[in-house]
Amino acid sequence: MPVSNNPPLSRGPPLALALKITVFALLAAAVVVYKLDPFDPAALPAEELSGEPASVAACNGRVLQAADRIGVGELAAAEDFAYDSELGLVYTGDGDGWLKRVRLNDSTVEKWAFTGGRPLGVALGADGDVFIADADKGLLKASKEGVVEVLTEEDDGVKFRLTDGVDVGEDGTVYFTDASSKYAFHSFIFDFFEGRPYGRFLSYNPTTKETKLLVGDLHFGNGVVVAPTQDFVIFCETPLRRCRKYYISGDRKGSVEKFVENLPGTPDNIRYDGDGHYWIGLSTEMTGSSSYWHIALKYPVLRKIMAIMEKYGQRPNLEKNGGVVAVNLEGEQVAWYYDYKWTLVTAGIKIGNHLYSGSLALPGILRLDLDKFPATAAGCPWSKSHDL
Ligand SMILES: *[C@@H]1O[C@H](CO)[C@@H](O)[C@H](O)[C@H]1NC(C)=O
Repeated sequence: MPVSNNPPLSRGPPLALALKITVFALLAAAVVVYKLDPFDPAALPAEELSGEPASVAACNGRVLQAADRIGVGELAAAEDFAYDSELGLVYTGDGDGWLKRVRLNDSTVEKWAFTGGRPLGVALGADGDVFIADADKGLLKASKEGVVEVLTEEDDGVKFRLTDGVDVGEDGTVYFTDASSKYAFHSFIFDFFEGRPYGRFLSYNPTTKETKLLVGDLHFGNGVVVAPTQDFVIFCETPLRRCRKYYISGDRKGSVEKFVENLPGTPDNIRYDGDGHYWIGLSTEMTGSSSYWHIALKYPVLRKIMAIMEKYGQRPNLEKNGGVVAVNLEGEQVAWYYDYKWTLVTAGIKIGNHLYSGSLALPGILRLDLDKFPATAAGCPWSKSHDL
């Protein structure tokens, strides 16, 4: 066929048409997928959502450059820490089902007790027992010899699906959270997408073996810490970006009060350093009304779209600026350590002059020398002299 004399094919219009049809077909398919998908997110309580983050006075936004990491290769996703000052080590739960302990003087990591689940929160009891909030197995205790025992896995017939944070009072009472009675650890993100309060804050009495619901209907109840004064326990609610106090003694016993809100990110574990400050791990930022999660929490439609994308493995990873915030005894945020590429930060704990921190996305334990790399006013994103 003599093709050479033919005018060049006009590729413009048919291609544009094909593109339009494709886009239209994709949109129609997306609408159908959206309509058919049974996922049904709820509006979160608008009046309880935190607003703009408080202006923390001092920040260090370049933690990843400054910190070193210990236990890389032996710790895939250290979640929470319990510090044993006598033995000079920290206990931490890892993704392989092991509770490990890390000696701080030489960074050696030891596999110490196997839970077979996903150990998250850890707390040291008076006689060397370690209490473990295991996402899959419930509230556990590992004896000094490393023998693991299940203490409780349900309350009032409602099973824990995501036991998450734990601490123990001086009287031996164990306080803990079940982040969700619906979603297990591997699908925790869907709890945020759905936006219903499936979380609980509970106590366990080792003498009577009684499990007691203290505060129900929480939006992802997460980190737990007993105040050094032993009169209240703090628990954090991740999507609400706040931590509240629950009084365990005195006139206010049984009542709930605010402790800290408007955090610059979503709180996970909270730990006390024995020296006037709580340290809260923040998994991802929420530093303003324009941030992705902040908007998503307001609009169930967006969360449904995100849930569908997540199901098909297509959700863009927009998490950023995870970190650790230090809060004083009055609940004021005094220092924020973060980094753009630091995400899924689960915990921070200050030991000596170092901050130790765990993340689900970063192997090993991050260690930052707080004397060499302090938080400063100029390091804050809201500071005029911020140098990023
Ligand atoms: C670390 O501490 C342990 C136990 O206290 C000790 O046996 C070991 O020699 C120490 N290692 C270093 C490097 O100091």
